[in-house]
Amino acid sequence: MLQYISMLDVHAIKKDFPILSREINHKKLVYLDNAATSQKPQSVIDAISNYYSYCNANVHRGVHTLSDESTNLFETSKTTIANFLGAKNDEVIFVRNTTEAINGLAYGWGEQNIVADDLILVSILDHHSNIVVWQELCKRKKANLVFIKITKDGKFDFNDFDEKLQKFGHKLKLVAVPHVSNALGSKLDLKKLVQKVQKFTPKSRILVDGAQSAPHLPINFEKMNVDFFVFSGHKMLGPMGIGGLLVRENILKTGEMRPWLFGGGMIAQVHESHTNFQDDLSERFTPGTPDVASIVGLAEASRYLSQLGMENVHKHDSQLVAYALKKLAKIKNIEIVGPKDETRVGSVAFLYQGVHAHDVAQVLDSQGIAVRSGHHCTMPLHTSQNWVATTRASFQIYNSKDDVDLLARGLEKVAEILL
Ligand SMILES: Cc1ncc(COP(=O)(O)O)c(C=O)c1O
Repeated sequence: MLQYISMLDVHAIKKDFPILSREINHKKLVYLDNAATSQKPQSVIDAISNYYSYCNANVHRGVHTLSDESTNLFETSKTTIANFLGAKNDEVIFVRNTTEAINGLAYGWGEQNIVADDLILVSILDHHSNIVVWQELCKRKKANLVFIKITKDGKFDFNDFDEKLQKFGHKLKLVAVPHVSNALGSKLDLKKLVQKVQKFTPKSRILVDGAQSAPHLPINFEKMNVDFFVFSGHKMLGPMGIGGLLVRENILKTGEMRPWLFGGGMIAQVHESHTNFQDDLSERFTPGTPDVASIVGLAEASRYLSQLGMENVHKHDSQLVAYALKKLAKIKNIEIVGPKDETRVGSVAFLYQGVHAHDVAQVLDSQGIAVRSGHHCTMPLHTSQNWVATTRASFQIYNSKDDVDLLARGLEKVAEILL
């Protein structure tokens, strides 16, 4: 029997999330769509509500008390988030989400560093956000976008990567890859990737899409040794509308990356003829009024996760994924896609023979179980594997073995109803 001893007190954690007490279609909600967005604990909801109730004032502008308090809260929240991700305060640029972070990078860094004939490498595992943005940049610059394949078990194919490094290495400017695939849960061996890039093309930059890793793994930007890391707050218990772009300090200091939005807040002095920008590096990249309430909410989410300990969060996820892989493998008509070993993170996806993924999701919804069906914003991956659509159950700290049991029972019902 598979051992399942969660590192977390899931029963207590569930109580922190008010939405989990809801009933859907007269059944207790089983929320397994966390890769799309996670639910929020009461403390995050309270942090946002308290900010607007008692602290709301614009930051960095006023001399009055409320503005001062709001500025302090903004700054301490930024420090909390930076520490949570192992980054320096200066390296954190707040944006709305992962998609905006990648777009910002394309305009702030790509526009002045990518030229005709250059190469950008992405993975076939990448989310559309980390594909379309680079496709558009390559179109503007007459540069080339090349995809790294996956292995038979759905992992980043390092043999293909080696071949492409040998073949095109001298033209390579950027490697843009997902830390964890949202469609297959495949975790990239980042250390290996960084070593290879440093050996073959040390000047190439590395962007890690952390949308699906930041919610489940301990992240240390400093130790990761990559140039850019992007994430969305809403997938890691924080509010929607806030995320981040982490950029290595020297890339900001040397001007290799420039602001892509301009206006107030980022400036030191403005003259009729020119403007001098802020010395503070990340301030320079965030003109206009920031979303202070959401930053405060994200800091609270970071604190909540830190208190549980990200090592424990990761262990809990690994156990749940292993349990789901084992349980679902026993169900007739189900073919699990992606890695089936302990490296898988956050989710389990599958094909249901003879039933479209949307129908699977609908039958599950009738039992109060929320999963995602479709291409999960990874159409190139689905096309390359000849999958029309897959169904994905994705986990968070409040999910338990019982939720997986209910999912398995629901999936057996799919056959009873539809086959
Ligand atoms: C790996 C990955 N990258 C990027 C995104 C885009 O995130 P957002 O919609 O928050 O910008 C997602 C969202 O699911 C994702 O899973």
